[in-house]
Amino acid sequence: MSLHVLDLARGFVRGAGLLGSVALDGTAGNGHDTLFLARLVGSGGHVYGFDIQGQAIGATSGRLEEAGVSERVTLFQEDHARLRELLPLGTTLRAAMFNLGYLPHGDKGIITSTTSTVAALEGALERLESSGVVTVVLYSGHPGGQEESNAVLEWARALAREVAEVGWYQRWNARTPAPSLIVISKR
Ligand SMILES: C[S@@+](CC[C@H](N)C(=O)[O-])C[C@H]1O[C@@H](n2cnc3c(N)ncnc32)[C@H](O)[C@@H]1O
Repeated sequence: MSLHVLDLARGFVRGAGLLGSVALDGTAGNGHDTLFLARLVGSGGHVYGFDIQGQAIGATSGRLEEAGVSERVTLFQEDHARLRELLPLGTTLRAAMFNLGYLPHGDKGIITSTTSTVAALEGALERLESSGVVTVVLYSGHPGGQEESNAVLEWARALAREVAEVGWYQRWNARTPAPSLIVISKR
């Protein structure tokens, strides 16, 4: 069993039971998680994916086409902070995944930013169904990463227990700085 945060995030999302439901990938990147979600929701469900970079939207779109699941995914080349306005009115989410930081093999200067990330997380939590899940993978090794991780952790720690259960995982014996995973399960 892998204890890598990316695999653990997927395990939590799988456990939320996504078949036929709606999910969000807040940071589409190269599209690995978007495709994972598209397969989980099946042909009766839908996935919304956000990324600010054209390169990421292009890579994600290509991956989805190759897998034959593009019709169940809507991609926005937009700041995920805009999800409140851009998701169709009344949309409820079964799961939302965020994998922060920069695009692997892309421009390491384009990174997620605290204000947008927290606004997007709030928007996703608002739309989350009861017992739905939000996963956030945090990196602290790049410039600005530590500040963003701290701010997101502070936000998550402050969530009232009546609203959601919140967990935080980090491998003890990984090479430092190890990424960590926040999991939020809505009441
Ligand atoms: C670590 S990568 C995501 C990897 C992706 N989950 C995958 O499976 O390939 C982080 C992504 O967040 C994107 N990003 C940065 N700021 C953003 C924002 N404000 N809104 C949406 N995406 C953003 C970057 O362009 C980058 O592609």
